[in-house]
Amino acid sequence: MTSRETAATSLPSAALAALRCSVCGEAVALTGHSLRCERGHAFDLAKQGYVNLLHAKVAAGTADTGEMVSARADFLASGFYAPLAELLAELASGELVVDAGAGTGYYLAKVLDALPGATGLALDVSAPALRRAARAHPRIGAAVWNLWEPWPVGSGVADTVLNVFAPRNAAEFHRVLRPGGTVLVASPGSGHLGELARSLDLLDIGEDKQQRLDSAFAERFELVDRQHRGGPVTLGPDDVRKVVLMGPNAHHLHRSGLGERLAGLTESVEVTTSFVVSAYRRLP
Ligand SMILES: C[S@@+](CC[C@H](N)C(=O)[O-])C[C@H]1O[C@@H](n2cnc3c(N)ncnc32)[C@H](O)[C@@H]1O
Ligand SMILES: [Zn+2]
Repeated sequence: MTSRETAATSLPSAALAALRCSVCGEAVALTGHSLRCERGHAFDLAKQGYVNLLHAKVAAGTADTGEMVSARADFLASGFYAPLAELLAELASGELVVDAGAGTGYYLAKVLDALPGATGLALDVSAPALRRAARAHPRIGAAVWNLWEPWPVGSGVADTVLNVFAPRNAAEFHRVLRPGGTVLVASPGSGHLGELARSLDLLDIGEDKQQRLDSAFAERFELVDRQHRGGPVTLGPDDVRKVVLMGPNAHHLHRSGLGERLAGLTESVEVTTSFVVSAYRRLP
């Protein structure tokens, strides 16, 4: 545990107030180590400080695994993606920030550092990720949930929704945001990690066509800002292994011989990072 991590044993009260029972939609309260609604549905608060609200199975391969999460935490701690975190911290505002697909909570923690009165609610389907997110900042509450299902979150409660390289459910972004609230969508820009994709024959990095993104949001949001960050970074062999192992390529190491190629790396490489953040304001 680093010095900024805290041992969370509870949920911040504003995060608890925003959560709803995932079975019936009623408000929840914390009794001992469980979250309960008035109808008696109960969910355990894990000792690591997150609550699991799932009650339906999620397809295998959806959630980031413990190994992926640990590679992600190590890679992000090296600061190579800090310019993206700084941009999100500049653009976020308000008292409740919901991070949809929060992973380890790295970006949400940076945003909360910039908003001293705000609370964060981290949603992700990966329990290993949320174990870290719950401890990434004292003002983060974390709940395991599948973003493709209706969220166990009240309507109109969030000022900002963060969505960083994660599934986008525009209808739920709209419902949980207050009128005039903003969703900040971060996606890979042109050439992001392109050198690695070519030299290691990685899966498609999935550069987003911004037009496609805009049309997915057009019905419910207006685009109010779009900013680009990034530039070249020098990655050592361990950094390259981590950035590959924190993403979907981690599932294909044996099939494609990628594991051997990664194990054989000895040199540092210069790699392009490229991030696009789009800010969409909720239409009434
Ligand atoms: C590429 S990672 C990004 C994590 C974090 N935002 C970051 O950038 O460090 C994608 C995240 O989305 C989560 N995820 C994938 N499908 C999901 C779903 N259907 N519901 C909730 N989370 C999901 C994964 O567990 C993973 O933590
Ligand atoms: Zn209930």
